[in-house]
Amino acid sequence: MRKALVAGNWKMHGRINQNINLIGDLVEQLSPIKESVSILVCPPLVYINQVGGLLSGTGINVGAQDVSRFEKDGAHTGDCSAEMLADMGVSYALVGHSERRSEYQETDAVVALKLKNLLQVGIKPILCVGESLEQRDAGLVEKVIADQILAAFSGLSVKELSNVVLAYEPIWAIGTGKTASPEQAQAVHAFIRQMLASGYGSEFSEQVTILYGGSVKAANADQLFSQPDIDGGLIGGAALVSEEFTAICRAAATSPKNG
Ligand code: 13P
Repeated sequence: MRKALVAGNWKMHGRINQNINLIGDLVEQLSPIKESVSILVCPPLVYINQVGGLLSGTGINVGAQDVSRFEKDGAHTGDCSAEMLADMGVSYALVGHSERRSEYQETDAVVALKLKNLLQVGIKPILCVGESLEQRDAGLVEKVIADQILAAFSGLSVKELSNVVLAYEPIWAIGTGKTASPEQAQAVHAFIRQMLASGYGSEFSEQVTILYGGSVKAANADQLFSQPDIDGGLIGGAALVSEEFTAICRAAATSPKNG
């Protein structure tokens, strides 16, 4: 059985004082359930140290929203390397979020470099994949998802990939209030597990954590997380409201299939 994971992606939100309040509330509210679900908070890079400090000793992890494509220190203004994130105690980092792909023209090749850099320093990458509404309407969901995953995994062995987490985030469901129905999400998650089984073996595909993201909230989390192949969530807007995020974590923790 796979242990549920809920990750909060704060995107470009937060201030020193707000962070103190939000993390304080979360630590208190999450304390009864934090043993039964892995919980991750991904603040903007500039607040990683602050949030990491506030979470220290609580069992809740701090993660990054992105990482440099460059592996080595050097003249890369504005970038932060995987090694630097590891140095700051970061345990997970998102790669390939659709907002990075669309706002920074990040290609699959760039996503693959970032994923590799994270794995090399022992940070668990959360590889985000997802289709646009046009691609869904054109019947391309499986092709788009498979292409994104295979490109990001290219050249890496099953052993090297053992720390990877996947997040299916249909672009049309992000920040729109339009959640994929539990059945729609489950169908894609099942497809992902199936394609991973054929490419990397069933042992790998059965152990890999696959999150759903896109307008997850307290009101729909139970239904989504009760689907057999949905192992938790990647949460945007609702991660900024402690009661919402806690309720989502509780839904994952109490899901009957949570290992
Ligand atoms: P929302 O939960 O705000 O739709 O965002 C999802 C997301 O993009 C998380 O990475």
